[in-house]
Amino acid sequence: MKKNDLGSLFRNSKVLVVGDLILDRFITGSVRRISPEAPVPVVEVAEEKSALGGAANVANNIKALGGTAVLVGIVGDDSFGKEFVSEAKKAGLETGGIIPGRGRTTIVKTRVMAHHQQVVRVDREKTGAVPAALQAKMRSLIEKKIAGVKALVVSDYAKGTFSREMLKWIGDKTREKKIPYIVDPKPANFPYPGATIVTPNRGEAQGFLNKPVPSGDILPFAKELLSKTDWKAVLLTLGDEGMALYERGSSKIEKIPARVREVYDVTGAGDTVVAVMSLALGAGLSFRESALLANSAASVVVGKIGTATCSIEELKRSL
Ligand SMILES: Nc1ncnc2c1ncn2[C@@H]1O[C@H](COP(=O)(O)OP(=O)(O)OP(=O)(O)O)[C@@H](O)[C@H]1O
Ligand SMILES: [Mg+2]
Repeated sequence: MKKNDLGSLFRNSKVLVVGDLILDRFITGSVRRISPEAPVPVVEVAEEKSALGGAANVANNIKALGGTAVLVGIVGDDSFGKEFVSEAKKAGLETGGIIPGRGRTTIVKTRVMAHHQQVVRVDREKTGAVPAALQAKMRSLIEKKIAGVKALVVSDYAKGTFSREMLKWIGDKTREKKIPYIVDPKPANFPYPGATIVTPNRGEAQGFLNKPVPSGDILPFAKELLSKTDWKAVLLTLGDEGMALYERGSSKIEKIPARVREVYDVTGAGDTVVAVMSLALGAGLSFRESALLANSAASVVVGKIGTATCSIEELKRSL
């Protein structure tokens, strides 16, 4: 694969991203006094802004790499839900699959920042199982949006979007359509039947098998994981140690070392990994080639502050 072909390989390649939708809010200001009401600082607000989180950050990453991202997920029928949709439109994502669920609350994570420090984080997440009617709506939207996509990503933040039935259905659907199905998992919804490749970090992998990922030889662990699932491969993301790729039936595991660079913020690196995997596998690249690209792209975003994305130009430069 040549670097210069990457752009055209990813350009306009459409990926369906299904998952938990989160709105990240940042309230920034300054502190000059302590509240007379309680021993807490008073933040005088200078700026308020929102960013797309959860599965929407995967979509953002796909878009940044030149692909087209179609988002399917649920927000609340509240003002934050509207804000989420408008932010997603602004970001150039296809938003027709975002469902405002009646009686549901948009998941919002608000950080109050002062003088470059987080003062408090306020989470608004009344999650819980998605009612049957809403699940049916989600299925019909996936059914509609899956036409013409090169890959499907499940971005599971364990916020209630996925039921076991839904995941089973997605596994069947992607096999029927013969498209790669990539999962950023959470232990609660293991084993993600029908997945092509799953990308757990250490904690998630430990949750699957109820034992820690060994620090030495990971091969037996990876083999056991595949023996308990029907995945074609697993890509363990190991933070500053990079990644380990194991393909079903192989006698060895491929370790991909992390790119050494100045690390600013590792949040969202996992989202970048699945975004690249979906575009690369969707374009017909091998697991190994895709993982090498994902590792390079992840090393670009950990060098940026905040939840970031990697552009196709940055990816080419980092290769
Ligand atoms: N400190 C680091 N230095 C270099 N690369 C890193 C570092 N941390 C993460 N990465 C890259 O990012 C990839 C994913 O990181 P990690 O294993 O932390 O995923 P994660 O825990 O799912 O992240 P997230 O916070 O997005 O959920 C790694 O496989 C590696 O390529
Ligand atoms: Mg992750």
